Amino acid sequence: MTGTTREDYTRRMLPRHHKSAYNRLPSYDIPEPMNYRHAYHAGNFADVTKHLILTALLAALSRKDKPMVYMDTHAGRYSYKLQEGAAAKASEWRDGIGRLWAAKGSTPANEWPELTRYLQAVREINPEPARDLPTDYPGSSQLARALLRPTDRLILCETEAEEYQHLKMGFANDPQTAVHQRDGYEALKAFLPPAERRGLVLIDPPFEETNETDRLLASLLASHERWPTGVFAAWYPLAYRTPANSLHRSLINSGLRRILKVELTTGPERLYGLYGSGMIIINPPWGVAETLTKWLPTLATRLAPKEGRAQVAWLVPE
Ligand SMILES: C[S@@+](CC[C@H](N)C(=O)[O-])C[C@H]1O[C@@H](n2cnc3c(N)ncnc32)[C@H](O)[C@@H]1O
Repeated sequence: MTGTTREDYTRRMLPRHHKSAYNRLPSYDIPEPMNYRHAYHAGNFADVTKHLILTALLAALSRKDKPMVYMDTHAGRYSYKLQEGAAAKASEWRDGIGRLWAAKGSTPANEWPELTRYLQAVREINPEPARDLPTDYPGSSQLARALLRPTDRLILCETEAEEYQHLKMGFANDPQTAVHQRDGYEALKAFLPPAERRGLVLIDPPFEETNETDRLLASLLASHERWPTGVFAAWYPLAYRTPANSLHRSLINSGLRRILKVELTTGPERLYGLYGSGMIIINPPWGVAETLTKWLPTLATRLAPKEGRAQVAWLVPE
C-alpha cells in the first residue's frame, strides 16, 4: 500500500498479542502483494465453508417467490479440476470437500438440508459421482447457478483473463447470466441497486493487495448506501497478520446495523498459513443466523475433527 510503513501495518492489522512476534520477523517479511491463484485452494476447508454459507443464503432468499439477483464480484473460474495441475499439487481440497464427499447419506448431510443440497450440486458436476473422491469442484458462480431459479439473474465479474475466459465459456448461451471482465468493486457502482431489489452480493477478494481490506470496507459501505436492503456477504482469511480485526472494528464504527460474523477455524492461531476463514453478512435473510449457529460447529468438526471450531455472532445486531 503506497505510503504504508511496516509499523503502520502492524498497528492497524495485528491483534495486540501478535505485535511483538511480528517485530521479531526479518525485515523482508513485510506484507506484500501476493500472487494469488484460486486453483490451488479450490475445494479447501475455507472454500467449502464459504460455499456452504452461500448455499444457506441462497436457500433462504429462495423461500420467497420474487425474483432475485446474485452478484459475484470476484467470481474466479467456472469450475476447477481437483486431480490436475495446481489443485492436485496443493492437495488442499482433500481436507475440504475431500472430507465431506464421503458423507454419502450419513450425518449431518441428512439433517442439514443445505449440506445435502450443496453436496448434490458438487456431485452433479462430477462425471463419476460414485468415485471415492471428487475430480471436479464448482466455483461460487457455478454453485450459485445450480441453486438459483429460472426467474433469477446472475452478474459475475472477474479481472484475470484466463479465469474470465473459463467463466465466459461455462456460462455461454445462458440468458440468465452476464459475465464481465472488470473490477468487481467498480462494477458494484454500476449494477446496484438491481431492478429486482432483492438478492445477494458475494465479495470474495483474493487479499493479494495490501489495501484489499480498505477497498472491501469502502465498497461495502458505498454499496449498502446504494442498496440498503441488499444482502452482502464478504469473505476474509484468518491468518497471521489477519485483516479481520481492523475490518470488524471499522464495521462496528460504521453505523451499519444487522451485521453477522461467521468464522470457522481448523486450529489455533499460528504464525504461518491459514487457520480459518470468516464471512461478514450484512442483512442476513431471516433464519440464516439460526441455521449457521446450529450447523457450523458440526461442519467445523467434520473438517477438522480435533480442533475445528465455529463462531456465529452478531457484530452489530438489529
Ligand atoms: C478467491 S478467488 C474467487 C473464488 C470464487 N469466488 C469461488 O468461491 O469459487 C478471487 C478471484 O478474484 C479475481 N480478482 C482479483 N481482483 C479482482 C477485482 N478487483 N475484481 C474482480 N476480480 C478480481 C482473481 O483473479 C480471482 O480469480
